Amino acid sequence: MTLKIGIVGCGLQAATIAGYLGAFGDDYEVCAVMDLNCENARGKLALKEVRVAKDCVFCSDLDTFIANSSGLSGIIIGTYCTFHTPVACALEKLHIPIYVEKPVAVNREQLMELHRVFADSTTSVMVSLPMRFAPLTQKAKEIIDSGALGKLGQVMGFEETSGEVYFTTWYRDYEKTGGMFMQKAVHDIDYLLYLVNSPVKRICAMKNKVCYAGDKPYDFTCRECPDTATCPKGPLARFDEWGEVKSFAEGMKAATEAPAYGGPARKRFCPYSKDIAIEDVTACIAELENGVQFIHTQNFIVSGGAGRRGARLVGDRGVLEIDFNNSKLRLHAMPQNSITEYSVSSGALSHYGGDRKLVKEFIELMKTGKRSSCDLIYGKGIYGTMICLAARESAEKLHFIEPEKEFLK
Ligand SMILES: NC(=O)c1ccc[n+]([C@@H]2O[C@H](COP(=O)([O-])OP(=O)(O)OC[C@H]3O[C@@H](n4cnc5c(N)ncnc54)[C@H](O)[C@@H]3O)[C@@H](O)[C@H]2O)c1
Repeated sequence: MTLKIGIVGCGLQAATIAGYLGAFGDDYEVCAVMDLNCENARGKLALKEVRVAKDCVFCSDLDTFIANSSGLSGIIIGTYCTFHTPVACALEKLHIPIYVEKPVAVNREQLMELHRVFADSTTSVMVSLPMRFAPLTQKAKEIIDSGALGKLGQVMGFEETSGEVYFTTWYRDYEKTGGMFMQKAVHDIDYLLYLVNSPVKRICAMKNKVCYAGDKPYDFTCRECPDTATCPKGPLARFDEWGEVKSFAEGMKAATEAPAYGGPARKRFCPYSKDIAIEDVTACIAELENGVQFIHTQNFIVSGGAGRRGARLVGDRGVLEIDFNNSKLRLHAMPQNSITEYSVSSGALSHYGGDRKLVKEFIELMKTGKRSSCDLIYGKGIYGTMICLAARESAEKLHFIEPEKEFLK
């Protein structure tokens, strides 16, 4: 059986996932692609060595894609985040399994529409949330479910990583992503809630743009800037301070050209624009139904070895520390006062190895119709997006939100 694949929004991420579809030895080919920029789509498919049918249809409108969807085994949606909900809802009537990127929605209206359309639909939608499937997360789940932590009291998750890609490429456009709760925290909030396995009762949050604050125009690059010699992210700093490149000229190239990854050349814009509406720091606190206090913080300020991603889960018998960047778990068993460290290999695929199981479940869904454990509705694939929307709303209104009561009514 050859899996026939359709793609709507065929950029780096969708092409990466499509490229993995042969990893388990299955036959597949991409037969229909819809993208606002077909040149980019073709480049990304070539870059990721995706098998493309000779007669594959490339188009730029959804009606043509739908007209050519007969016989497809599955459809991958990898558009900008804003379009995930409208595209998924428009494809529901085809009854073809869908793989949709996160976040599944960027505002309350979209989330409610998505839920309304798919709650009782026979069309399966699986959500791309690979952190749940990372071997490190799976090992942590095994430890927590064994009772080694006793009664859980507090969970503290954190992500600290560079803001380079988020503040200099399209990810800086709030209209395309919905901001950093939606774009980034959704991964961590999803895997942490999966580990703790309790609904959120109420949540409050804060967000701010502190370090990328500036007064430059939106479409400004270092080439037009008078401050290249002093800017902490400018070409001179890249050469003289960071040692990233071999000269000022190379620094200028690195600061102004985003990697094309097989598509047309792309600019890198100034991260210090006054009009960038995404945040560089966010924090949220939630009370879960089981009483656990849940805290998540993220920032896009740090770089290099200062970065970290993981969590600390505190119970009355044990404490578990998760360290994604070093592929390690540390279990403190309190009665014995002992420490056990686990090194968990993530394997070759991306997202700490989580893409392996994610893709395996998508293949199984297409072949057998078995819904993924990350199904939008039955696998709570919608839930992390809902909590992030609630966090964003709380940060805007500065009060607690009860997401279950407010969003899924
Ligand atoms: N699950 C993950 O871990 C993960 C990782 C990276 C990116 N993503 C998500 O994948 C999505 C795409 O990110 P990317 O890095 O591949 O970006 P990208 O820029 O490489 O690709 C986006 C593609 O979508 C196309 N597009 C945008 N809006 C469209 C529309 N309305 N109709 C048709 N095509 C449209 C663009 O032309 C482009 O080719 C984003 O939503 C991002 O959040 C998820």
